[in-house]
Amino acid sequence: AIGPVAELDIINAEVNLDGFPRQAVLAGGTFPGPIIKGNKGDNFQINVNNLLTNETMEKTTTIHWHGIFQHHTNWADGPAFVTQCPISSGHSFLYDFDVPDQAGTFWYHSHEGVQYCDGLRGPFVVYDPEDPHSDLYDVDDETTIITLADWYHEAAALITPPADPSSVLINGRGRQANDTTSPLAVINVEHGKRRYRIRLISISCDPYFNFTIDGHNFTIIEADGQNTETLPGIDQIQIFAAQRYSFILDANQPVDNYWIRVTPEQVGGAGTPATPNGLAVLHYAGAPEVEPTANINEVPNPVNPLYEPNLHALDEPAVSDAPGEIDPDCPQCNITLNFDFVAPNFTVNGVTFAPPTVPVLLQILNGDYTAQDLMPNGSVYTLPRNQTIQINMPGGVLNITHPLHLHGHAFSVIRSAGSDTVNLVNPVRRDTVNIGDATDDHVMIRFDTNNPGPWFLHCHIDFHLAAGFAVVMAEDPTDVPGYVSPIPPAWDSLCPIYDALESA
Ligand code: C2O
Repeated sequence: AIGPVAELDIINAEVNLDGFPRQAVLAGGTFPGPIIKGNKGDNFQINVNNLLTNETMEKTTTIHWHGIFQHHTNWADGPAFVTQCPISSGHSFLYDFDVPDQAGTFWYHSHEGVQYCDGLRGPFVVYDPEDPHSDLYDVDDETTIITLADWYHEAAALITPPADPSSVLINGRGRQANDTTSPLAVINVEHGKRRYRIRLISISCDPYFNFTIDGHNFTIIEADGQNTETLPGIDQIQIFAAQRYSFILDANQPVDNYWIRVTPEQVGGAGTPATPNGLAVLHYAGAPEVEPTANINEVPNPVNPLYEPNLHALDEPAVSDAPGEIDPDCPQCNITLNFDFVAPNFTVNGVTFAPPTVPVLLQILNGDYTAQDLMPNGSVYTLPRNQTIQINMPGGVLNITHPLHLHGHAFSVIRSAGSDTVNLVNPVRRDTVNIGDATDDHVMIRFDTNNPGPWFLHCHIDFHLAAGFAVVMAEDPTDVPGYVSPIPPAWDSLCPIYDALESA
């Protein structure tokens, strides 16, 4: 693990994670990248050194710290051409940001093109020395972090989606079809005396996963870096690309080995998916060091799968954190986004997102404050400060579920996919939400504008983002120059065009 002050080299190297060697884009030389960790209140200084050489997987890069609010440091958020120009090969950039008021389970990934699918993804954990749930678990360390990934045998830029991943990787290990010998990840526990805080992170580029552990159930305590009320008795977790959960695993079953099963869903082509299920082993100390004897093809039969409306934000202190009322005199505060697919691209309210040549933040710093000026095609929405914003997302896009992620905030999910009730009392807060696939889905989220800056809102299926499934929420643009902390000179020099703008 590294952090909160660290060097992070981004390199091309060959890896063999599932019985098939391929070139990859790696943070710190491994897949997933090293765990970046720190405590609530820490200042993070991650110096990213771009040592990439492979053109096919993009030689430039950026890093996004998924779920971190970046109050006052929008310039460190990462998305290419929204908040920065990419870092070119042979150059470095220091991401320097505070995490004063957040703790939980996050991750980091390339935010340029589809580069993270080629490997640049890793876990990011902020520990809370005063965690309100701390009496519920005994162990919470690097051994209890579980990442779930889709893996492809081709460079992502060469893939025509939808495509079946070649394998599912759990903590960077998996097996391609017909491979029975590649090593699998092992999670070690001790019988009876220990309760483990498992931090489950989907670092998926595309599919969602159904996660189970034979013979065990889970008590959920966190979703996407937000504490939840404890939700016990869950025996299957459906987790969408970029979502995270913490759950308590009580090691109370007979000493043995148990399969951790991860079924990729909504994988590429029609018919039976070619992607084998992901497998890992839950190993109790004292059991033989062999694979579980249970049939690997057994299909889990959950009786109490996680259902998002049952997740509730934990209010600590005892103040309601439910979102406020929408100001009826604020038309920009109540936004409906209609998503569509017009081959080969996605549209949001009729517009396909294409990255501007000058990052939106740079435009704002140069005095452009209107949506019309920032992206005349309609991909920017401006939001007023200190208001509650509601975003309505009617469902039924292509009969595929899409995970929508907003940068710079957590939001309250007041209506979830598959539910027709609205919860304004204690809705779950998170940063990535499944918008469902049915025409009667109508997901609604609310958040408060307290963080001036341009924030990306996009589908976290990386192939869909690349196909334009995105908009920018430009929050209070006129206040950005005064709100954002002094921008390091190195940020300016990422954009060769900056000098031209300055002198214009
Ligand atoms: Cu995790 Cu804009 O992304």
